[in-house]
Amino acid sequence: MDSTIHWYPGHMAKAKRQLNELIKYLDVILEIRDARVPLASHNSDLEVILKKRPNIVLLNKIDLADPKVTKAWKEWFNRQDYPVIEVNGKNGAGTNQIWQLLNTKYSPSGFRKSVRVGVVGIPNVGKSTILNRLIGSGTAKTGNIPGITRGKQWIKKKGIEVLDMPGILPPKITDQDAGLKLALIGTIKEQLLPIYDLALYLLEHYGEVIFRWNEAGIEVDSAELGLEWYARKRGFLLKGGELDLNRAATTLLQEFRNGRLGQISLEVPIMTAAQDD
Ligand code: G4P
Repeated sequence: MDSTIHWYPGHMAKAKRQLNELIKYLDVILEIRDARVPLASHNSDLEVILKKRPNIVLLNKIDLADPKVTKAWKEWFNRQDYPVIEVNGKNGAGTNQIWQLLNTKYSPSGFRKSVRVGVVGIPNVGKSTILNRLIGSGTAKTGNIPGITRGKQWIKKKGIEVLDMPGILPPKITDQDAGLKLALIGTIKEQLLPIYDLALYLLEHYGEVIFRWNEAGIEVDSAELGLEWYARKRGFLLKGGELDLNRAATTLLQEFRNGRLGQISLEVPIMTAAQDD
């Protein structure tokens, strides 16, 4: 498979400047990551800046990730002293835990009385959704520009002040795999990657987990055959009776993204021996 991601990291310096500006106002950062890809949905280049304040990692979209893997990730983060909360922006699960943690573990700086909190994350991880959960709908979608502090609003709730707009972190494409995973979860626009290649990547790496071909005794020796199998199973045929692989690829990706294929984690934590002790 030859799917090359052309990524232009041109705005990184600007993003760093804006993030630096944003966090001056914050006591705590809620960094949202996608529970299916907790590493690829993080930008390690920004860590130095993010670490200027205490970070809480919110693993969002847990409804789409494998619960066992999410539990392992939680342990992985905890072992690195990262407070981590599993969140479902769609139904609000985890929101109470966020309030509880913020109210018990963090203190305001200077003469202020309440802790100031901001939400950050790469595109599409659920920043606006979670912000709406935290401060109520209608207020969170006032802007989406990282580091814009002019006209910022603090929404006071449960003894905490939450900045009413999220900070957007640019995604970091460390390698081809990370890029493909980000494309699968919808961070990177599809125009940059052929849908067909993306569907093949999904099937090559996760096809067996999703469809359990082996268990069912179905012979699928390659991602290409996997996509043909899926097209046949779904009855996606062109007029002449040929398989409609384009439709198959598009539908497969849609079904992955909306959870119809099941709860699938694309990254699994590696616990080192020292961590396992
Ligand atoms: P962003 O600000 O970080 O860019 O993300 P945003 O909140 O806009 O959320 C991006 C998409 O992810 C939205 O879907 C949102 O509904 C969905 N989302 C957020 N949290 C969760 C979650 O915990 N689980 C699931 N399954 N989805 C979540 P959308 O298709 O863009 O819009 P819509 O579905 O709300 O119409």
